[in-house]
Amino acid sequence: MPTNAKAVLVVGGAGFIGSHMVLNLRRAGYQPVVLDNLSKGHRDAVLDAELIVGDMADTALLKELFARYSFAAVMHFASFIEVGESVKFPAKYYQNNVAATVNLIETMVKSGIKHFIFSSTAAVYGEPQYKTITEAHPLAPINPYGRSKRMAEEIIRDFAVSDGLNYAILRYFNAAGADPEGRLRERHEPESHLIPIVLQAAAGQRPNVTIYGDHYPTADGTCIRDYVHVVDLCSAHLLALNALLKGKKQLVCNLGTGHGYSVIQVVNAAKRVTGRPIETVVGQPRPGDPAILVADASLAKQELHWLPRYPDLDPMIEHAWKAMQKPA
Ligand code: UFG
Repeated sequence: MPTNAKAVLVVGGAGFIGSHMVLNLRRAGYQPVVLDNLSKGHRDAVLDAELIVGDMADTALLKELFARYSFAAVMHFASFIEVGESVKFPAKYYQNNVAATVNLIETMVKSGIKHFIFSSTAAVYGEPQYKTITEAHPLAPINPYGRSKRMAEEIIRDFAVSDGLNYAILRYFNAAGADPEGRLRERHEPESHLIPIVLQAAAGQRPNVTIYGDHYPTADGTCIRDYVHVVDLCSAHLLALNALLKGKKQLVCNLGTGHGYSVIQVVNAAKRVTGRPIETVVGQPRPGDPAILVADASLAKQELHWLPRYPDLDPMIEHAWKAMQKPA
């Protein structure tokens, strides 16, 4: 039986952020093992890391994996993430993001694994009650997706009490960018995220970008978001992992840069980076979109000494663009 103290189970490791994590874990000397049901992820995104195709709802499979490897920790990236879809099909979100997550945590703690890193989201805060959001902001999600993540957070805390689970809950703002060397990229089907859509328009793969509303109370009237490079999300996970392995018991923190960019600023940055024209049309506001979502990420800096390497928008777009040039 292989007993590598540095093996890490990456659930959802074939998805956008998970696959970048796998690459970064390997670079940092860990042995990632991916568990992914490939419902959203892509087999080729794990590159040559070990991939087990299966579901975190499958208790027998989890037990077998936990017996076969001696995992130092589990990282969980395997959630459904579409807000609109979660409103239409809440059961899908509660079954996967909550029920299957309970199964994962229960099976891991019963197998003696105590360190858990969970991908949470700014969506747990709901409509911002003040400008830059700290972790102390009330948790008032406004859609099933956000509620499923808040529930998972609560469940994690309960397992900390019942089973001594040590955890890092990382609340991402808007994940963006791609591996700077172009080996991995963001691929959602259908694509709903702004930067990939803008780049598809730049590449001529769609005629234009619809701006979802331009009458928000912001300088140019379009929504402001805090985009954070996927490589920086990964570095925060590595720091959190090291902290847990060194004895930290719990950590809940925002991951963002603290800088917001409007939809129009994103489009203009993409024009600048790609040198291509990008046509926009103004559409209706998307239900449930807050005007401004910007993180106060000082806790991650304090607790983890996290320092985003690519805090500016241009490199995020540049890396995503570079990765898009590669054949799928
Ligand atoms: N937008 C457009 N046109 C598009 C797509 C997006 O104008 O074609 C706008 C959105 O209205 C929003 C901004 O661009 O203002 C960013 O939208 P994304 O869909 O890229 O990202 P969201 O901010 O909606 O969502 C992100 C994560 C979600 C998470 C949410 C937390 O992707 O998983 O943040 O608030 F739930």
